Amino acid sequence: MSLNKTDKERVKAFWSKVAGKADAIGAESLARLIVVYPQTKTYFAHWKDVSPNSPNVKKHGKTVMGGVADAVTKIDDLKGGLLSLSELHAFTLRVDPANFKLLTHCILVVLAAQFPADFTPEVHVAMDKFLAAVARALAEKYR
Ligand code: HEM
Repeated sequence: MSLNKTDKERVKAFWSKVAGKADAIGAESLARLIVVYPQTKTYFAHWKDVSPNSPNVKKHGKTVMGGVADAVTKIDDLKGGLLSLSELHAFTLRVDPANFKLLTHCILVVLAAQFPADFTPEVHVAMDKFLAAVARALAEKYR
């Protein structure tokens, strides 16, 4: 399911409303990832503390959302735009690409929970498609 013009406009409009809270969205999404899918903790084993509210999780949540914010600006060419981030995760970090879907699912849940009024069914569809496209773009270099 690719994003049509309306989806892209909805993603940008929704993002502009929530962008100011990106750090909190990222922290909560990453915290959920490691609680709901504890096998993902292995990738962060080099951190001093991998518990959900740890400073590392908060800091990295912010980093990940920086990547999502960047992806919003590259929405017309996610595969090209996220190529170097895909390369990093594939060859340097060696993250199994199945995990991208787990994290993007957590981000979607957090957006719904933190912004219930703005998270209309139409925004839900657009953000679901966008996050799926981000996960696909990040998996690009694995093929
Ligand atoms: C690092 C984004 C998914 C594991 C990073 C960085 C960004 C990023 C921007 C920093 C890159 C740099 O330093 O240049 C994203 C986005 C994701 C995603 C947008 C999906 C929406 C994942 C997943 C995992 C993961 C699912 C593993 C379960 C890591 C690790 C690092 C990293 C281990 C390095 C962390 C460190 O510095 O200690 N990611 N990432 N990423 N990512 Fe991801």
